[in-house]
Amino acid sequence: MKILIRPDAASARTVAAHVLKRQIVKKPASVLGLATGRTMEAIYKLLVTEHRESNLDFSSVTTFNLDEYIGLDAANEQSYHYYMQEHLFSKVNVSPNSTHVPNGAASDVDAEAKNYEAAIARAGGIDLQLLGLGQNGHIGFNEPLSSLNCRTRAITLAQTTLEQNAEMFGGNPDSVPSRAITMGTATILESHMALMVVTGPAKAQIAAQMIEGPVTAAVPGSALQYHPSCLVILDEDAASAL
Ligand code: GLP
Repeated sequence: MKILIRPDAASARTVAAHVLKRQIVKKPASVLGLATGRTMEAIYKLLVTEHRESNLDFSSVTTFNLDEYIGLDAANEQSYHYYMQEHLFSKVNVSPNSTHVPNGAASDVDAEAKNYEAAIARAGGIDLQLLGLGQNGHIGFNEPLSSLNCRTRAITLAQTTLEQNAEMFGGNPDSVPSRAITMGTATILESHMALMVVTGPAKAQIAAQMIEGPVTAAVPGSALQYHPSCLVILDEDAASAL
C-alpha cells in the first residue's frame, strides 16, 4: 500500500484525477472500476474538464461501477446509475454500451450480481479501481464483517451506512434503500491497481485503522493492505490519526 498525503482535499482529488487520466492515456481501452459518493464528484468534474479542454478520450474505455441500491432503477435520481450519468457518462465520450452499473431494479438480484461478476471477467478484469472509504470502513458496499473472499452479491446495508448516506435521501436514514448490489472485496482485490481517495476529518480514525491496523473483516478496506498495487491518497485531515 502506498500512501500519499496532500495538504487539502482539492489537491488530493487533483492527484487522483491525474492518475486516472494517465491510465486512460497509457491504455485507451482501459477497464476502469468506478465509485460514487461525495468524494468522487469533484474527481469526475476534473476528468470532464480534461475531456473538454485536453481531449481526454473515453471512446475506448469500459467502466464497471462498484455498487447500486436495490430497488432503484436507472431513472431514479438517487440511484448510482443516475449519479454516474450526471457526473461523468453524459459529459464525456464514453460509449453507453461500455458503461456498467449493477441493475438495482433486477427482478433476480442474485442472478444480476453473478452476471455482473462474469461481465467483469469477460472484459479481462479491472485495470484501475477507484475507491472511496465509508466511515465504517466499507469499500463499495462491503460492510464490516463481509468475508474478505466475497464476490459481487446482494448485501444488507449497515445502519451506519444508512445514516452516512441519508443526506442524499432527504436526511432520513429510513428513506435510504436497505439493500444494495456490490462488487465483492475479492473482486476489488483482483483489480490491477486500486486507487483510494479519503478526505475530511470524519474519516481520520477509520483511515488509520484501515492503513495501520490489522487486516480484518471488521474493516473491509484493510483488505487493500494485501493489494499488490494500491495507492491511498489522503488529505491532511483524513491522515491526522496516522
Ligand atoms: C458510499 C459508496 C462507497 C463510497 C462511500 C463514501 O456508501 N457505496 O463506494 O466510497 O459511500 O462516500 P463519501 O465519499 O460520500 O463519503
